[in-house]
Amino acid sequence: MPQSQTLPPSASWATDRPAILGEGPPGAPLMFVGEQPGDEEDRQGRPFVGPAGKLFDRALEAAGIDRAASYVTNAVKHFKYVQRGPRRLHQSPDAGDIKLYRPFLMAEVESVAPRFLVALGATATQALMGQKLPLLKLRGQVFEGPEGRPVLITVHPSYLLRLPDAALRKQEFERFVAELGLAGQAARGEIRPTGQTAAQADGPPQGSLPL
Ligand code: URA
Repeated sequence: MPQSQTLPPSASWATDRPAILGEGPPGAPLMFVGEQPGDEEDRQGRPFVGPAGKLFDRALEAAGIDRAASYVTNAVKHFKYVQRGPRRLHQSPDAGDIKLYRPFLMAEVESVAPRFLVALGATATQALMGQKLPLLKLRGQVFEGPEGRPVLITVHPSYLLRLPDAALRKQEFERFVAELGLAGQAARGEIRPTGQTAAQADGPPQGSLPL
């Protein structure tokens, strides 16, 4: 984002820690949107640098995508957590949080103007598509998102970290890499996936987010 960009708002639960902004060159062809910064991201002030970020980096490398040439950001710009002794435990953002930060995310989309976007997980999908959609059913599919830009829906790297079964984890990681590979091809203009609108998605939306 340009330095002159106004800062995102702060949710009522946000502490006085700085917002974690997106990272990447203006005009990046590919934009990845996650949920919110985690504990490590909050400490380092950068998106996707903790355990989920490390898995994400491995997947990007396997998919042949240069993270430095992409724009990486989050739907929610502060770490939402509850303090339990010395630990800060992640809390999922709710629809109000997504709505509060959404104008800033849209400003990032407008300013970076990516050719292709990837929604990593349910929160990013809801933020980009403006409504709650059934993630596991729609993953791997491309939809028409903000400003008509194509959005590929996929899982969040944390989902892969949480899978208890090693074989399933490997299988799901490979599927994730394949989905990122598709996004990479689309961003390079090698393929042109057609995005359906959310309304065309198979099955009714699970709920809508007032925009
Ligand atoms: N999870 C996210 O969604 N974003 C980050 O930056 C880190 C973990």
